[in-house]
Amino acid sequence: MKVRKAIIPAAGMGTRFLPATKAQPKEMFPIVDKPAIQYIVEEAVASGIEDIIIVTGRNKKAIEDHFDRSIELEETLKKNKSQLLEAVKKISSLANIYYVRQKEPLGLGHAVYCARSFIGDEPFAVLLGDDIVCSDVPCLKQMMEVYEELQATILGVQKIPDTEVSKYGIVGCEPAGDRIYKVTSLVEKPTKSQAPSNIAILGRYIISPAIFECIENTTPGKGGEIQLTDALRLLMEREKLYAYDFIGERYDVGDRFGFIKATIEFALKRDDIKDSLIQYIKEKLNNEKLNNVPC
Ligand code: G1P
Repeated sequence: MKVRKAIIPAAGMGTRFLPATKAQPKEMFPIVDKPAIQYIVEEAVASGIEDIIIVTGRNKKAIEDHFDRSIELEETLKKNKSQLLEAVKKISSLANIYYVRQKEPLGLGHAVYCARSFIGDEPFAVLLGDDIVCSDVPCLKQMMEVYEELQATILGVQKIPDTEVSKYGIVGCEPAGDRIYKVTSLVEKPTKSQAPSNIAILGRYIISPAIFECIENTTPGKGGEIQLTDALRLLMEREKLYAYDFIGERYDVGDRFGFIKATIEFALKRDDIKDSLIQYIKEKLNNEKLNNVPC
């Protein structure tokens, strides 16, 4: 079956980014000049997704406004800013975007469950808003190609340093092909000694619809929340689960340093900014060196 629909959970409160997230959604923070969530939507569209549901919460209205038409703005840009006009108009026609609210912050598994009637009985993708992947072939597209072959749930993974296992869903697995593993165990944010490996789920999933029944049977786990990782463990008892080691650089833009790294990386890819940024960083580093010379 073809994967046509995607869920983008965006209901999180963004506590790692306070005070900036007090009154604005972290998903709208710009990486250079494009909101983080637009990168995610564009990745989904470039991977062949037609319908997207964004799971929002309170304080997230700006996300809906961003993907809507802005007639007044378009009228103003029409006068003499035709390039910007095209960029602005394009956003509202990227995909069919729907919204559902997660009324309480009960965890990622619960957020995915909020979209169950939209998804129905077909396999679907999940793209987490905090994870931006920079790659030649979009990360989800790579996974779609693997899905064509395996027709089973696939988790986008990469190896991470052992010291970071407690930040992620970690899989235990065995090799099953080129960059593909068969998943044999899953743990949400384990301690270093509990972790079955250092292979982490990094915000991209293609999931069978049987997950919804599994979420119904998932009790609160890490942090008292309904964890998607725990529901996937139940799914593994019923169906095969695979992990795919995707090609690309992944940034955690929900984290301050990850956000700064992504900003620099994307700015370095922009012809209009790249040269001045490199020059600025060089000057900065030279000054830093000079400042550190003992006098
Ligand atoms: C979520 C998932 C976790 C996954 C991570 C990827 O955690 O629960 O399994 O590894 O995203 O970024 P969060 O970072 O939302 O706490």
